[in-house]
Amino acid sequence: MGLETAHWLIGGNRRRLDAMTDDMWGAGDYQAVAQKVTSIADVLVRRAHVESGMTVLDVACGTGNASIAAAELGARVTGLDFSPHLIAVARELGAEANVDIEWLEGDAQSLPFNDDSFDRVISAIGHMFAPDHRRTADELRRVSRKDGCIAIACWTPEGSIGAMFQRLGEISAPPPPGFQSPLLWGTEDHVRELLGDGVEFERHDVEFDEPSAASYADFMLTRFPPLVALRADVGDEIVRETYLRWVDEVNEADDGTLRYRGEYLVAVT
Ligand SMILES: C[S@@+](CC[C@H](N)C(=O)[O-])C[C@H]1O[C@@H](n2cnc3c(N)ncnc32)[C@H](O)[C@@H]1O
Repeated sequence: MGLETAHWLIGGNRRRLDAMTDDMWGAGDYQAVAQKVTSIADVLVRRAHVESGMTVLDVACGTGNASIAAAELGARVTGLDFSPHLIAVARELGAEANVDIEWLEGDAQSLPFNDDSFDRVISAIGHMFAPDHRRTADELRRVSRKDGCIAIACWTPEGSIGAMFQRLGEISAPPPPGFQSPLLWGTEDHVRELLGDGVEFERHDVEFDEPSAASYADFMLTRFPPLVALRADVGDEIVRETYLRWVDEVNEADDGTLRYRGEYLVAVT
């Protein structure tokens, strides 16, 4: 099992590395999945020392977990994502939370902002899916103020969720030429190479506590967009079987419920 097997994750970009070819992330119900990982947004916003009045860009914001957390602290937030559907959901959730956020459709590899635009640039398990890592890193740096800070989070390859992505990669179609695994963003060497030696790292876990392995598998297989796309690509049965095998491996509970931890790497510079 190698990192290269996680290529199916690049989703909307998986047929052409340089193009947004479909709204893969808009399929399923990412909003429901995002509710289980809000702690990542809280860690990032805290680690980036987001304060009232700061300008904050949340790259690949999805349904807005980190954007809303930053705006609730009084920051002037822009949330950017290339999924029109998720931006529409984020806009609704921002309004429900009673915060004022600018929501934009756009590509993390080509950010529609001037140099030095933001005090804080953050991404919670989002930037990792843009296929060209060097371009993405350069864009994060370019739009960040020189006295500002970039804080990003990515699943680690050795953690449970890293393993899940790799297992499912083994049953998906071969990667396009030039593919770099999203999980490389969860390794210190790769992030240092992209963002420089001054990066500080922390490891955190998302704790998942679910009524049962089977109900969780049903939930994820029908709601998590990359799983929905993979089932359409290679068939439900093999995806379900592979996913259930992985759930059994990572389950730490012995009382019929499901408990597991998903490790992620936070990089701050
Ligand atoms: C796992 S979700 C994370 C969303 C959100 N940051 C959160 O914490 O829930 C990954 C997100 O990356 C977005 N994404 C993937 N590739 C992108 C790209 N090249 N540019 C912008 N957004 C991208 C997807 O649309 C999706 O919303």
